[in-house]
Amino acid sequence: MLSRIWSAAIVGINAVKVGVEVDLSGGLPTIVVVGLPDTAVQESRERTRAALKNSGFPFPTRKVVINLTPADLRKEGPSFDLPISVGILAATEQVKPDLLDDFLFMGELSLDGSLRPVTGVLAIAAAARSLGFKGVIVPEDNAREAAVVPAIAVYGFKHLSDIADFLNDTTSRQPHQLDGKAELANGHAGALDLRDVKGQAQARRALEIAAAGGHNLIFVGPPGSGKTMLARRLPSILPPLSFEEALEVTRIHSVAGLLKEKGSLVTHRPFRSPHHSASGPSLVGGGSFPKPGEISLAHRGVLFLDEMTEFKRDVLEFLRQPLEDGYVTITRTRQSVEFPAQFTLVASTNPCPCGYYGDSVQPCTCSPRSREQYWARLSGPLMDRIDLQVVVGRLKPEEMTRISEGEPSEKVRMRVEVARDRTRDRLHSEPSLQCNADMQSRHLRHWCPLDDATQTLLEGAVRKLGLSARATDRILKVARTIADLDNSDTLQAPHVAEAIQYRTIDRMQ
Ligand SMILES: Nc1ncnc2c1ncn2[C@@H]1O[C@H](COP(=O)(O)OP(=O)(O)O)[C@@H](O)[C@H]1O
Ligand SMILES: [Mg+2]
Repeated sequence: MLSRIWSAAIVGINAVKVGVEVDLSGGLPTIVVVGLPDTAVQESRERTRAALKNSGFPFPTRKVVINLTPADLRKEGPSFDLPISVGILAATEQVKPDLLDDFLFMGELSLDGSLRPVTGVLAIAAAARSLGFKGVIVPEDNAREAAVVPAIAVYGFKHLSDIADFLNDTTSRQPHQLDGKAELANGHAGALDLRDVKGQAQARRALEIAAAGGHNLIFVGPPGSGKTMLARRLPSILPPLSFEEALEVTRIHSVAGLLKEKGSLVTHRPFRSPHHSASGPSLVGGGSFPKPGEISLAHRGVLFLDEMTEFKRDVLEFLRQPLEDGYVTITRTRQSVEFPAQFTLVASTNPCPCGYYGDSVQPCTCSPRSREQYWARLSGPLMDRIDLQVVVGRLKPEEMTRISEGEPSEKVRMRVEVARDRTRDRLHSEPSLQCNADMQSRHLRHWCPLDDATQTLLEGAVRKLGLSARATDRILKVARTIADLDNSDTLQAPHVAEAIQYRTIDRMQ
């Protein structure tokens, strides 16, 4: 007896169709799994045997051979438990074979036959749709996640025996319904609001520019000046995710196994704040079956490197390419996968080892040499890619004790959205460009022409600060965003002058 069930494996953030063939033949009662299974798939034999027995299905007393195709794709994880069990049920004629070709199956089994959620279900549901399947059969806890994909029937089950009942009588169940767009609209906003921040006008302005143009930002200042507080409030002024963006973000979080139990869509822009002890692979992605790292989990949102100078330098170097390209490629012997990584980088750091260089109250105790070494760590190719470098000073006593609130995030976000609309109208001929920070050199010639006076101003700054070509381009992009916030079609001298001001670290060196 032979049966075949369809399932899928995750490669990067995409799903690849996998056939699960089950053959019963004479011989000693054993189970063999072939087709490049990893350990978790091997262990599936024991889970399947127990789950079937404990669900009241007799296990065949013959040799069971399970073949996973295509044979050259490595299969990992426990999600093949379900298709293997259903394959055995079909091969032993305990379920009807009629509808097996209509569905992709995935799910982990407990020994009692109940189904446990697996990772990557959204990607698999999307693949099922594009491959022309009628639906997917998943653990109940994954049903909401799969159902955000439009136009695919999602059936969620608690127990293996429910699936057998369903395959024997498909009228017994209705597909899971979910309105993904309504989910997105009803998502809860985070609690952090800019109204909690007193003073710090320049830092607030820089946050607004970063949000409007997608520019990278670093706050430099003494401990307790509010750097972390400010950075954590950036998501509150970013425009909401579109449905397409939300699907994209959810897919990455799903593959990484980060969706909350019974979760559906990620409804808000991610804010990722890895610890400074983070390794290279945890930051950019890795593993023998490559999984997304922090930069991809921050896709369409914010990557916050608090106390950036505490991170290992070689780990930070990994960020350079993705910051430029908006994706990261991870190469393994058998495959190479690409993870999207379009994020806004926000960093914070003290100005020197003791933390008080330039402070108005506490004197700095660092030697000039140790300060120099510290600044050297902050310079170079990574800093070149940070457009907005902002000094956050200590609050004045009268600011600190004032009770009045700062401007609320919602008001700032409205300005950001108007500026982004203006940007979008300008960039609409280039769909790959979402915001000003995405522009390349060739776009700048077209969209950021300067009059003679402004040209001279920029030239002077380049000469004085010894700016690289990349840094100069970045000044133009920031200036373009400042002009968009200013509702101006042309780039004018004040826009460029303000953008130059944000190269603080270059100026300090
Ligand atoms: N501008 C500010 N407005 C209101 N509270 C502030 C401000 N700056 C600092 N604080 C208070 O000080 C605390 C420490 O700030 P934090 O952002 O952690 O400083 P830093 O990261 O610069 O060391 C905050 O949790 C907040 O309570
Ligand atoms: Mg801090």
